[in-house]
Amino acid sequence: MATNRTFTMLKPDAVEKGYIGAILEKISASGFRIVAMKLTQMTTADAQSFYAIHSERPFFADLVEYMTRGPIVAAVLEKENAVDDFRTLIGATNPADAAEGTIRKMYAESISANAVHGSDSDDNAAIEAAFHFSGREQF
Ligand code: CMP
Repeated sequence: MATNRTFTMLKPDAVEKGYIGAILEKISASGFRIVAMKLTQMTTADAQSFYAIHSERPFFADLVEYMTRGPIVAAVLEKENAVDDFRTLIGATNPADAAEGTIRKMYAESISANAVHGSDSDDNAAIEAAFHFSGREQF
């Protein structure tokens, strides 16, 4: 299986609660190599652009407010089958539906404040990584 990359954000709820270390430990222990990482905060314009695909959804305004309310950790991760394996590791969007041992089951509050993002395709991983990182910041 090919080695590829995915993009993740540890979202404001996870950062506020002090879960950065625990979540990064779980990501590393699951075989992902961190090839880019930063603590940053999205502006309203950033979040509206990043989540443009959801702009017609009823939760869009709340999503933008939540994602901009505090710092996030943005990172690019490399592994064989990275996109699919990372989505398995984080679990279902709604933590109530997430499997035992997944990051969202362990650390997420709710479907809206769900602790962590994972790209849903190789193409989106590349787009999302480029949104947060220059080529020089990805190793
Ligand atoms: P994520 O999959 O990382 O990116 C889109 C986000 O929108 C998702 O995480 C949730 O934070 C949020 N989201 C998705 N569906 C809902 C929903 N039904 N209600 C509220 N927020 C949602």
